[in-house]
Amino acid sequence: MYNIPHMSSSKGIFVANWKQSGKGKEALKWVSEMEQERNLLTEVNKIIIVCPPLKALDLVEQAILKKHLPIAVGVQDIDVNVFKGEKNTGAQSPDFLTDSATHVIIGHSETRRNNKLTDQDVAGKVKVAQNAGLITIVCVEQVNQARKLKELLGDYQGIIAYEPPFAIGTGNAANPQDANMVAMEIKEILPSTTVLYGGSVDGKNIKGFMQQDSISGVLVGNKSLDASFFKAILKNA
Ligand code: PGA
Repeated sequence: MYNIPHMSSSKGIFVANWKQSGKGKEALKWVSEMEQERNLLTEVNKIIIVCPPLKALDLVEQAILKKHLPIAVGVQDIDVNVFKGEKNTGAQSPDFLTDSATHVIIGHSETRRNNKLTDQDVAGKVKVAQNAGLITIVCVEQVNQARKLKELLGDYQGIIAYEPPFAIGTGNAANPQDANMVAMEIKEILPSTTVLYGGSVDGKNIKGFMQQDSISGVLVGNKSLDASFFKAILKNA
């Protein structure tokens, strides 16, 4: 498994969230195309985390390992029941995930909505994931969700991705200065966190986000599975 550089020293965390895409061949093609830009990947202070669907997790991790690429692997969620101590059929325990993954996305706006997650559910998942040794990337749609995290977990240590719903998958990214204001507020509430921006990030708008003081990187959906788009983001950052 890739040994991730220390986060606090980094200005440049790039998360590729493949959502439900990235079956075998497509996943391996992505890894090969990333390999062609090894120099770009090894730039100091860049942390790249790819989050494939669960089924492709081991495949992607093994391909990355074989090519010695500096790319960490994350999962897109953990099951809501595991933190209640239940052993449920079909649920994924984070203890298995740590065989291949170092990171986990928790509370993405889509999973909050689809699974009717409460703030308690999100905080519970964070605890279980962190206990298992995963680095958590908690998505928040607004400052209030960061405040709830603080109420429930105290000084949360990990990554927060600020993703305003109007910007997710719409091609209509937030204004970088506005996103920075929100990131600043989040950091005031949770000083030990690293804040990313997510929502329609692409090769053209990336610079604007990376120039903001309180934004340390991005969470990319649509433009992450096609390696040429994702590499454009890394290049222009
Ligand atoms: P998008 O997705 O880049 O397609 O807007 C971001 C996300 O859902 O994390």
